[in-house]
Amino acid sequence: MTQEDAQGSEGGQPEDQSKRDFLKVAATVSAALAVVGIASVMKSVVIPVIPSGSNLTFPKVKVSTLSEVSGGTAVIFNYPLDNTPNVLVKLGQKAENGVGPDGDIVAFSQVCQHLGCIWGYVPTGGSPAVNKAYVAKSPVGYCPCHGSIFDLANGAKVIGGPAPRPEPQVALEVDSSGNIFATGMGPPSIFGHSTGSSDPNNDLQGGNLVTTTQGS
Ligand code: FES
Repeated sequence: MTQEDAQGSEGGQPEDQSKRDFLKVAATVSAALAVVGIASVMKSVVIPVIPSGSNLTFPKVKVSTLSEVSGGTAVIFNYPLDNTPNVLVKLGQKAENGVGPDGDIVAFSQVCQHLGCIWGYVPTGGSPAVNKAYVAKSPVGYCPCHGSIFDLANGAKVIGGPAPRPEPQVALEVDSSGNIFATGMGPPSIFGHSTGSSDPNNDLQGGNLVTTTQGS
């Protein structure tokens, strides 16, 4: 898909603790990788949180390359299910859990955590088509339905609008050839893919796990 597709179209749980646990695990494993000397292959690693008791296993799927995203082009890919879109983009500034040589490549679920519309990527200085009065001071995701705004350099935290929680972040790896892989996804659950139980990371029902190369 194209960057225009990332501009969005129409289409809620205890989250802070799980987010902290997610980041703690990621930091621990990154340190371990440096010790064993394979950090040069995996530029950065985000470890997905798989709910306890779940038999879910995230697939590893190639979604893009460093050259494809070098100019800021947004890449849309379905992951981990074949009907759940994500945006992958090189932000041009260091990002939380960012990968690549500059630590600025991130990917998030594109399904808005408010009511499930598809948000679009807006680079620094840009404006969403639905609200030309808004000028992004940093790279954001902007939902055209009710104006939720996600800070993409800081874990897609909500900085505007009614979304009750951040977007799930896709775990990425970059190999020595510049290929970018999706390897997992952090909490919370993709909107519409939780059972609605007390565990927000309960499951990913409602689609099939992707198994083939994604991206444009
Ligand atoms: S669905 Fe995104 S702000 Fe309402």
